[in-house]
Order: sequence, then structure tokens, then C-alpha cells
Amino acid sequence: MAIHFQGFGMSRLSIQRPDDWHVHLRDGEALKAVVGFTAQRFGRAIVMPNLKPAITTTDMAGAYRRRILAALPADSRFQPLLTLYLTDTTSADEIERAHAAGFIHGVKLYPAGATTHSAAGVTDIRHVHDALARMEKLGMRLLVHGESTQAEVDVFDRESHFIDSVLAPLLDRFPALKVVFEHITTRRAVEFVRTARAGVAATITPQHLLHNRNAIFNGGIKPHFYCLPILKREHDRQALLEAATSGSPRFFLGTDSAPHEQATKENACGCAGMFTAHAAIELYAEAFESAGRLDRLEAFASHFGADFYGLPRHAERITLVKETWTAPPQYAFGQGALIPYRAGEPIAWRLAQMRSRA
Ligand code: DOR
Ligand code: ZN
Repeated sequence: MAIHFQGFGMSRLSIQRPDDWHVHLRDGEALKAVVGFTAQRFGRAIVMPNLKPAITTTDMAGAYRRRILAALPADSRFQPLLTLYLTDTTSADEIERAHAAGFIHGVKLYPAGATTHSAAGVTDIRHVHDALARMEKLGMRLLVHGESTQAEVDVFDRESHFIDSVLAPLLDRFPALKVVFEHITTRRAVEFVRTARAGVAATITPQHLLHNRNAIFNGGIKPHFYCLPILKREHDRQALLEAATSGSPRFFLGTDSAPHEQATKENACGCAGMFTAHAAIELYAEAFESAGRLDRLEAFASHFGADFYGLPRHAERITLVKETWTAPPQYAFGQGALIPYRAGEPIAWRLAQMRSRA
């Protein structure tokens, strides 16, 4: 990693090209509107399968992969890494097919009802034991949306409840299964991952590093700060920032960038999801700088995820410049508009080069 100092502050940061280990690219016009932002910054991304209909088979994932590739800018070398959506009826044979296909790098567990397009998700973890056993055997990673869905569980306790009721027993039952605890949001989850058995890691989003739950209620209700798992307390944010900047390979970058059309966010029943892909690595740079640990951004963004997924690190590099720019108030998004995170507000780091050789 090359860091250049100019004056008092660090002004340029060169890192190996990062990857986004958790992103929602959607489909159709929405896909065309957003994929370029991710492809500009990241070499690869784990693409979530919560479409409608959900990507539940290898064939569906193959077709979705072709649509993503077709939506990329002509000169792009971005590689989408597909995932399969786990359902109560996913067979061990389907897992076998997914693994053999080569382009599917994980299987996503959505507890039914936990979030956007999760209705087809898993209603009881016992229903997927056969699929999980095959994944364990093949070395296929399980990507977990870790929230309990029972109505009586407080929305701020869903992650913690899930650790006790599902995740901890699952890690014991399948001791060799590689698991990514996605978009962790609490100090409890940080401690759990830090002390878990080998083969357990977590992604952390930029919004959970930069904000606590006050952002949702600051001067009125702010739907663009609503995502799932929901933002938590400051003490949780501090733990996430410590984990991300700790140098532990168990924590790596996953934006959970999740675009929704403006009217579905600014709504009496607003959708969960924050769109951060337009400034993803820049936002992580802000977070790492706030902790005085820009020197650890490269490992978090460009090394640990690739290592966990058994993929090579990129030879290419990107450069970030400490130079303020203003995020646009909106982007076109099919027939509607997409309100990005920080719309009309400054972002402290800018992507300098789209492509450069190591
Ligand atoms: O906020 C979220 N949005 N959390 C998720 O888990 C799903 C995502 C989406 O797809 O919109
Ligand atoms: Zn997600």
C-alpha cells in the first residue's frame, strides 16, 4: 500500500483493487442503473440472490450472471460472483450443481420474513440440514442474514437473538462449514465472530461504521437511513469500527448497497436498504480515517475477503484522493429516481483512477 503525505493530512492512498463481498445489483433497468458504480471500484462482488423470483437454482444464477455481464460497461473487467438463495426445499443435489458450475461462490440464508424479498427464505433451519451438510463437504460458503424474525423479538435485539437461537448451534452442528455473518451491527456480533471457531467471518457495511441509530430519527424520520439489520447504538458502532480497523482477517468489506426507487423509500411503509455503491470505497476511507487507521483499509477491503473465499488478491490498484466532492441529489433508476447515501452532501475522499496496473 502506498500512502503519500502532502501538508498535514494524507492526500493520496493507493491500494490493491478491493472487492465488495455483499451487494444487491437487482435486475433489468435497476441493474443497468447501478452496476457501473460497483464495477468502477471493485474487481469482484458477491451478488445477493434476493430477486423476485429469488435465484434458487444454478440455472437461474447462470442466466442472472449473463444479464449482469451484459449490463456492464464494454471495457469492464468486473467479475460478478453469484450466490444461491436457500429455501426450505433446496436439495443437496442443487448445492452440488451450484458448486460444479464454478461461478457460484456462496449460498445465502435469509430467515423467512427477515428483509426485502425474503418470503421464500428458510422457515426453520432444520429444513436445510441436508443442504448445509453438502455445503460443508464441498467447501461452499454459507452467507447468513443473521436476524430472528419472531414478532416478539425486539427489532434491536434480532441479531443477538439469532446468534443464540440459530447461529451458535449451527456452527457446532457443522464444524467445518465456512460461514460469513453478513452485515454485522452489534458489539455482541463482533465479540461472537472474534471468538468463534475457525471458518467464521463477517462483513461490515459503511453505514454501520459511520452512523448509529440516531441518524434514523435526527430531526424527523429519515427513511434513507433505514436498512436491515437496523442501525444500532453508538457503543455498537464503536465496536464495529474497532473490528474493521483491527487487522483481524475475520472482518472484511461488504457494502450491502441496496438500491430502492425513491417512492418506495419515502413511503408510509418504506423499504429497507441504503444505496452506497456510488461512493463505497470512499466511505470506508472516511471511516478508517476517523479511527486513524487508513493504513489498514487495504487489508480489510482488498485482502481478507479474497483470502476467505479462496480467491486471488488483485494485482491492479486503485487510488483514492483526499478531495471533497458532493454526491448528486439523485440518480436515474428505471422510470424513477434513486436517492444515494449523502445525496447533495460532501464526501471526503474521491476515486482518482478507474484503472491502473500494479
Ligand atoms: O436493508 C436491506 N436491504 N437489508 C437487506 O437485508 C436486504 C436489502 C435489500 O435487498 O433491499
Ligand atoms: Zn444485503
